[in-house]
Amino acid sequence: MIGRRDGALMRNNSSNQSLLKSRIAIAIVIGMFLGCIFAFFFPHGIFSSNSPHFDHNHLTRSISQVVSTSCESSDSLNMLKAEFVAASEKNAELKKQVNVLIEKLRLAEQGKDHAEKQVLVLGEPHKAGPFGTVHGLRTNPTVVPDDSVNPRLANILEKIAVGKELIVALANSNVKDMLEVWFKSIQKVGIPNYLVVALDDEIAKFCESNDVPVYKRDPDKGIDSVGKTGGNHAVSGLKFHILREFLQLGYSVLLSDVDIVYLQNPFHYLYRDSDVESMSDGHNNMTAYGYNDVFDEPAMGWARYAHTMRIWVYNSGFFYIRPTIPSIELLDRVANRLSHGNAWDQAVFNEELFFPSHPGYDGLYASRRTMDFYLFMNSKVLFKTVRKNANLRKIKPVIVHINYHPDKLPRMQAVVEFYVNGKQDALSSFPDGSE
Ligand SMILES: *[C@@H]1O[C@H](CO)[C@@H](O)[C@H](O)[C@H]1NC(C)=O
Repeated sequence: MIGRRDGALMRNNSSNQSLLKSRIAIAIVIGMFLGCIFAFFFPHGIFSSNSPHFDHNHLTRSISQVVSTSCESSDSLNMLKAEFVAASEKNAELKKQVNVLIEKLRLAEQGKDHAEKQVLVLGEPHKAGPFGTVHGLRTNPTVVPDDSVNPRLANILEKIAVGKELIVALANSNVKDMLEVWFKSIQKVGIPNYLVVALDDEIAKFCESNDVPVYKRDPDKGIDSVGKTGGNHAVSGLKFHILREFLQLGYSVLLSDVDIVYLQNPFHYLYRDSDVESMSDGHNNMTAYGYNDVFDEPAMGWARYAHTMRIWVYNSGFFYIRPTIPSIELLDRVANRLSHGNAWDQAVFNEELFFPSHPGYDGLYASRRTMDFYLFMNSKVLFKTVRKNANLRKIKPVIVHINYHPDKLPRMQAVVEFYVNGKQDALSSFPDGSE
């Protein structure tokens, strides 16, 4: 890993040096070129003044000479005037040309910089293939694992992970009952690669006594005090800190809240082509996958319709994240913003994922994929739509997330009754929303 880093650094240095050399060479060539132009148009020099008044002064001196000799006709005066006008025009034209040249040079240099950085990241430059055959990068390379970040966790993950991936949930005693439904559903499906990050001793013991793989953080990691007493949002901030280590160790994580029931093995339903693959808070094709929402402003007349891009947020309680640089940058950005204010982690997570670069802000550009909203089902989809539709009732989701309802435990139990035990009326007693 160190060798690789050094290699990248060296390439970087040598490319910087060659860039510097080529810049100097370009500057010399441009200098000579401009020198020739100026020598041609202004054999007597132009740099004594940059302002147009220069020609005027010159002319005034000439005129006073003319007048003092008092033997020149008005023809000479007119000739001088014409010369003055022509010189001014040439001066302005030349200035314009120089500005265009400088601008072209700046653009060329800037483009070259970007292109060189791009090549450093992506390897050899390519020609574009034929129409319809080109595809941009969405599967970023994984980071080189660094076990020194947390050797104890590295040890645990080596035993638990399957194909370098696993389900991870954070839990403290406040969510003990839900955690039990959560891991029982995972055990029933037969998913081996999952881990509970215990935020207090009670949960750690509870997991051990139930044969649930558990990881307790070192007490000296200060931020963990949040986990013991913290409410939902405080724990959410902690989760992005903790996740970082998993990615640094080279593992893909399916981050899971505990208000989720597992009905199939989610690892059989992932695409793994994006930095972040997430379940949606959307409830149909449009809201989950994106649509063009037309905003109407009649006062604008001919241009009354403004088109807007809309998508329901990704659910930050259930997403698969690959160990890549953009993924780790996402975690850092979210953790950083959550530590500086009382923001909702799901809103911050989505803003970082979706907002483009703009003045004063560099966007993230992690690649994203929305999970199938029937397979990775939120509780609005289940209680508002699916349970009322004979065909949709036959679909067996991979997971159901009780994210839209506060009475989480009874709804989780009802989901188990309906999908696992086949009790057809298990979902009937609940209202669509909360009351
Ligand atoms: C939603 O999209 C899927 C394909 O992604 C399509 O098969 C289905 O017909 C669409 N449903 C509606 C109601 O448009």
